[in-house]
Amino acid sequence: QPEVIRDKACMRSWSRLHRWKGKILALVPTMGFLHQGHLSLIREAKAQADVVVVSIYVNPGQFAPSEDLSTYPSDLHGDLQKLADAEVDAAFCPSNIYDCGSDGVPGEVGSGGGDESTAVSCLEAGDGRGREGHETWIRVERLEKGLCGRSRPVFFRGVATVVAKLFNIVEPDVAVFGKKDYQQWRIICRMVHDLDFAVRVIGSEIVREADGLAMSSRNVHLSPEEREKALSINRSLLQAKFSLQKEKYSCQDLKNLVVQTITQAGGRIDYVEIAEQETLIPVKEISSSVVVCVAAWFGNVRLIDNMEINI
Ligand code: PAJ
Repeated sequence: QPEVIRDKACMRSWSRLHRWKGKILALVPTMGFLHQGHLSLIREAKAQADVVVVSIYVNPGQFAPSEDLSTYPSDLHGDLQKLADAEVDAAFCPSNIYDCGSDGVPGEVGSGGGDESTAVSCLEAGDGRGREGHETWIRVERLEKGLCGRSRPVFFRGVATVVAKLFNIVEPDVAVFGKKDYQQWRIICRMVHDLDFAVRVIGSEIVREADGLAMSSRNVHLSPEEREKALSINRSLLQAKFSLQKEKYSCQDLKNLVVQTITQAGGRIDYVEIAEQETLIPVKEISSSVVVCVAAWFGNVRLIDNMEINI
């Protein structure tokens, strides 16, 4: 059984104790409702470190008011069982990691800073009310603007900020992120580089269902028909990859191919972009290594996926 830690100070002492013993510590940040994608990150973390901490925290700071915070799936009991099976050493499950000022001790169960709505109001209280709440945000200025940043303008500042907090609380040597959320992974790498966090960030390959759908906690919201249609995302990416390997394609033609495949299947495109892998700067001509990134809606569910293409 993993040690279940709910309090920030306890988490920090636990980490420091293990580091004092000379252990290399890995952190895998998650929002729970764990699937095989998360478990592959945990395996990667175990390969890289002596002790593994998995954080489970649905971060209100990265959801816009219109987004699916309230319906985000959760199953803490099931998650803890999976972490036990994966032989994870500690699960960091804070009820809230934002400071609620005088209203309660932050991050403790039953402190009044506990539930999701309190966490959200903590963030709101940060807007200009002095001591209470939260008002410090990390922005990775260029990288956060493109791709998912266009339709989710506050998303990456929320991600970068909560990950920075987790790094400061857990003090890991290594942190593992999935390439499924490609822009997120690149943003964290950039933040760590620019702000000199003493963490080595590892990007782990995308885990897919047998039929090619990238695993995601949000997939449970897809109806069987929508799920079938959503397979067009991976199909379009594979098509792009094979087309490029066969012949030279202009960027626009390649994007059109992806858009067409997904639209024909009944998906609504948010964006299709072809970009440099590290900087995510969109390319006009395909010359070396690129990543094709897609976001599309199927019903009320927004899915993202991508494929690195090295030529
Ligand atoms: P979450 O969506 O729970 O994902 C946690 C980690 O699992 C992320 O690094 C994500 O890229 C990875 N992951 C998800 N699905 C994957 C798949 N099919 N294959 C490989 N890796 C996959 O991403 C977040 O949570 C949050 O934004 C977080 C980083 C925890 C900050 O709140």
